[in-house]
Amino acid sequence: MNADGRSRLNQTPEWTALAKHREELADTGLRDLFAGDPGRGSGYTLQVGDLYIDYSKHLVTDETLRLLRELAVATDVFGLRDAMFRGEKINTTEGRAVLHTALRAPRDAVVEVDGENVVPGVHAVLDRMAAFADRIRSGEWTGHTGRRIRNVVNVGIGGSDLGPAMAYEVLRAFTDRALTVRFVSNVDGADLHEAVHDLDPAETLFIVASKTFTTIETITNATSARDWLLSGLGGEEKAVAKHFVALSTNAGKVSEFGIDTANMFEFWDWVGGRYSFDSAIGLSLMIAVGPDRFREMLDGFHLVDEHFRTAPAEANAPLLLGLLGIWYGNFHDAQSHAVLPYSHYLSKFTAYLQQLDMESNGKSVDRDGNPVDWQTGPVVWGTPGTNGQHAYYQLIHQGTKLIPADFIGFAEPVGELSDELEAQHDLLMANFFAQTQALAFGKTPEEVRAEGVPEELVAHKTFRGNHPTTTILARELTPSVLGQLIALYEHKVFVQGAVWNIDSFDQWGVELGKVLAKRIEPALTEGAEVPGLDPSTTALVATYRTLRK
Ligand code: F6P
Repeated sequence: MNADGRSRLNQTPEWTALAKHREELADTGLRDLFAGDPGRGSGYTLQVGDLYIDYSKHLVTDETLRLLRELAVATDVFGLRDAMFRGEKINTTEGRAVLHTALRAPRDAVVEVDGENVVPGVHAVLDRMAAFADRIRSGEWTGHTGRRIRNVVNVGIGGSDLGPAMAYEVLRAFTDRALTVRFVSNVDGADLHEAVHDLDPAETLFIVASKTFTTIETITNATSARDWLLSGLGGEEKAVAKHFVALSTNAGKVSEFGIDTANMFEFWDWVGGRYSFDSAIGLSLMIAVGPDRFREMLDGFHLVDEHFRTAPAEANAPLLLGLLGIWYGNFHDAQSHAVLPYSHYLSKFTAYLQQLDMESNGKSVDRDGNPVDWQTGPVVWGTPGTNGQHAYYQLIHQGTKLIPADFIGFAEPVGELSDELEAQHDLLMANFFAQTQALAFGKTPEEVRAEGVPEELVAHKTFRGNHPTTTILARELTPSVLGQLIALYEHKVFVQGAVWNIDSFDQWGVELGKVLAKRIEPALTEGAEVPGLDPSTTALVATYRTLRK
C-alpha cells in the first residue's frame, strides 16, 4: 500500500489481469495474429501529424491493448498529464513544475506557474535568440577584431549538449554550410582541442550552455576556451564580450564567470536539462538553421503535445508506445529497447534518447520513496539501421533476448542528392521493410528445409520471429518532423514514468559520482590523501600516479 492508500502497482487488479493475459497469449505468435485478422496490417496503425505509426508487428491483441489502457486509467496517467500541462509541481523531489511543453506553446497560449503566465517570457527569449542568430548569420555581429563569426562552438554536457548536437546532425541539410558548428562536452581536453585546433579565434563564438552554470565539465571547458580565445587575441579581456554568450537559468554564475548577462539567453527551472533543447539551449541549432526552421521545429513539437493532450486513449500515440514498452518490460522480461533509424542524419538520435529515457526513468523508488518491485526504464540503445544490420542485428534475430525495437524511416531522402545517390534511397528502405518483416515472421524449420538446406544446418538457419517492432514512417525528415519525433518520445517516457509511479524529472543518480570526483581530484593532482577511499580505488589512484608522467 502507498502513502496515499493506493495499492502498489503490481498488486492492482489491472496488473494481475495483464500477467494472466500474458500467460494466455504465451503460444500466440505474430503469424497467428496476422492470420486471424487480415486487416491488422493497416488497422493497427496511427497517423499523428506527419508520422505514420505501425504497431501491427507487436505481440498484442485488442484485449492486450484494452488491458494496458486500463492500467493507464488505474495509474491516472492522463491525470498526471493534465497536471503537467497545467504547470503543477509534478517533479516532487525537486518541487518543480515540468513545462517543456510551454517552450513550444503558441504566443497567445496561457500556461501558469505560481500564478504567472510563462508564455510571454518564452517568446521574448525566442525573439532575442532569433535576432542574435540573424546577426551572426548575416555577419552583422562581428568578433573583437571586427571579423565576422564563421565558427560556433557549443560548450555544454548532457541535456545542454545532446539535443543541439543531435539536431544539428539531423538538420544538416538545412544549415548554413558557410558556418562551422561544433559541440564540446567531454572534460577530456581532447574534445576541446579537436574542436578548436583549426579555428581562428577572431572568427569563433563560444556558446556556454549550462542550466545550472555549475557543471564542472562545462565550466572547465568554458574556462579553457576563454584562455584559448584570449591567447589568440592578444589577451584583451574585453574580447570575451564579443565571443562568449551563455544559455542558463543562473544569471549570478554567468556574470561570475565573466559573461555579460546582456549576452545571456535565459530559461527556467521548470525546464529539465534533458527536456531543454527547444529552449535557449537550442541557440547553436538556431544559428545553424535560422530562426524560421527552428520555429517550424517548435511547431512540430507542439503538434504532438496537442495530440498527447487531447487524443483519446485508443488513438493516443505516446500512450500506446509507452504501454507497449510496459508490456515488454514488465510482462515479457525485456531489458532493453532498440531505436533504429534508417537515416544517416539521425545518427545521434538514439544517443539523445538515451539521456531522455534513461535519466528520466532509471529509478528504483516510487514517488513516495518506496523501493519498486517492478522493472522501470529499459536500456535504450541503437545506431542507424543498415550499419546495425552488419553488427548486432544477429543477436536481435537469433539471440536469446527479446529486444523490442523502433524502426524510423522516410519516403524521401533529405536534400539535394545526385540521381545516383537519390536512387540508393529505395535500397535503404528495402532493408528497412525487410528487417521488420524478418523479425516479426522469421523463418520456420519447414521453410528452411523446403529450400534444400541440409538437416544439420536447419536449426542454424531458422529464425523464430516474434520480435516486436514499431515502424514510424514519414515522408521527409524536416525540422517539424524532428520536433514531432522528439515530442513523441518525451511523452512516451512520461507515460511510462506515470504508470511506474516514479519521478521521471529528477536525476539524483548523477550526484554521487560528481561528489566523489571532486574528492578524488586532489589525490591525482597533488597526491593528497582522500579520507575514506576504498582499498581498490586507493590502489588504482596510486597506480595512476605512477604511470602519469
Ligand atoms: O547529467 C546530469 C545533468 O544534470 C543533466 O540532467 C543535465 O542535462 C546535465 O547534467 C548538464 O547540466 P547543466 O545544464 O546544468 O550544465
